[in-house]
Amino acid sequence: MTKGLRKGLTSYGDAGFSLFLRKAFIKAMGYSDDALSRPIVGIIDTYSDYNPCHGNVPALVEAVKRGVMLAGAMPMAFPTISIHESFSHPTSMFVRNLMAMDTEEMIRAQPMDAVVVIGGCDKTLPAQIMGAVSVDLPTVVVPVGPMVVGHHKGEVLGACTDCRRLWGMHRAGELDEAEIEAVNGRLAPSVGTCMVMGTASTMACLTEVMGLSLPTSATIPAPHAERIRVAEASGTVAARMAVAGGPRPSEILTPAAFRNAAVVLQAIGGSTNGVIHLTAIANRTPHGFDMAELDRIGREAPVLVDLKPSGAHYMEHFHHAGGMPKLIAQLGDLIDLDAKTVTGETLRDVAAKAEDVSGQDVIRPRGNPIKPEGSIAVLAGNLAPRGAIIKRAAATPRLLQHTGRALVFESVEDMAARIDDPELDVEADDVLVLRNTGPKGAPGMPEAGYLPIPKKLGRRGVKDMVRISDARMSGTAFGSIVLHITPESADGGPLALVRDGDLIRLDVAGRRIDLLVDDEELDRRRGELAKAPARKIPARGYARLFEDNVLQADEGCDFDFLRASGPNRQA
Ligand code: FES
Ligand code: MG
Repeated sequence: MTKGLRKGLTSYGDAGFSLFLRKAFIKAMGYSDDALSRPIVGIIDTYSDYNPCHGNVPALVEAVKRGVMLAGAMPMAFPTISIHESFSHPTSMFVRNLMAMDTEEMIRAQPMDAVVVIGGCDKTLPAQIMGAVSVDLPTVVVPVGPMVVGHHKGEVLGACTDCRRLWGMHRAGELDEAEIEAVNGRLAPSVGTCMVMGTASTMACLTEVMGLSLPTSATIPAPHAERIRVAEASGTVAARMAVAGGPRPSEILTPAAFRNAAVVLQAIGGSTNGVIHLTAIANRTPHGFDMAELDRIGREAPVLVDLKPSGAHYMEHFHHAGGMPKLIAQLGDLIDLDAKTVTGETLRDVAAKAEDVSGQDVIRPRGNPIKPEGSIAVLAGNLAPRGAIIKRAAATPRLLQHTGRALVFESVEDMAARIDDPELDVEADDVLVLRNTGPKGAPGMPEAGYLPIPKKLGRRGVKDMVRISDARMSGTAFGSIVLHITPESADGGPLALVRDGDLIRLDVAGRRIDLLVDDEELDRRRGELAKAPARKIPARGYARLFEDNVLQADEGCDFDFLRASGPNRQA
């Protein structure tokens, strides 16, 4: 097999000339023949001035390079798209697949024998892993790591669970202008990803349990020296993989690895976005992802990690309590410990080396869980023929069985315009419905599922209501919120048929979400809807590619043509 600079030669006449040309150009950077004769480890650099979460990437790239060179290989860093949650219009989800394609194609296009991907902000690790899985070159993932916590008037702050909570208090008149400004400078006190169990932390934890990153990679705070050392060690591991030709993602991402990821997603009280990303990653392999199994696992796997938004602590505390190795050890037989990792070790080896931190209460033992059941439940029903999910761990227990009157918002704009109207006909027992916020409808499936409590109810002390939509929700949010209703309303889903005043029943114990309107009436409404003017379709560019190819939430919102060739698919 060709390695190093000889790999994937561009054809300029004979092979000798193509290599001659390639060497002539790369020598312009001052590399020696010795350097250019080594196996190459590509390093994906996702530094961007628009991505503060990735502010430590330059230091991590340097450390990975050092690790690669210590093992005798040649590191070559290159950029790809970088995505930050707050700086990606219309949504970061809209460009996730673009980043996955960029990652995949640039790994394919350039000569390398292994690759280290460095990412972290919500959509970046999923995009990078989706791309890397499709290439199937030996891959090590280095997450950028979580921020350290912030402090305000003796209170610990976390981005961005407390962003929402404190903004809610400001809206309710409990925090004045000056104080909310002060808080604004303290919510994200360092580089790194949101330090609660949001999507970034969730995906870093899933990456680690799937064996794609080194032990403790998920939890070491971004500014810590240990983070630099794990990056160096990751470079060394990648160099070894470059020489050995493996393990490849296809050898690591077995059905057991995905089951382990589902167990951890439940046990950490992970982000609902994790379900979409895990599905997208699994659908890049021949194995796929089973939503029914995720629900089944949720009935067995307890929530053991006590982190915001459903618990009390932050990622740095999770780390100091022993991180993922300790959690894997605590989960014991719920995890398939024979699953392999990039280092060649199994999860059994990882768990055996878990630090025993006595007195910690962040990672609970099985006998004393935060919640006896997992965090995410999968729902079905006449409102969600292909499913919906709810993060039970973040909901108000009394609302998990609830029937209420629908109050419908047609879009995010409609909701923003009316939600705080003092004349709005709304009561605390109503069910807030938001539609046209799915993958195609918005487009890009915004994190709009966390509908704010109408101001007039907030002022009366109402903190939670049942809210349902075809949108996603930030992993840092909380509430009794049904998400990812599939199919989405803009793509023929029955959510489009709901009218103000209809009764909606949420039955989490029975795993159902239903619209209590008879079929005849629903058929009549469907007929009326068919006569309504059609949605505007983007005419060109990536938006058109997205519109034509994006799959629904139950298929991970990937593009149809990017899935793996599986039993029912053509290669
Ligand atoms: Fe980047 Fe939260 S905004 S991880
Ligand atoms: Mg997020």
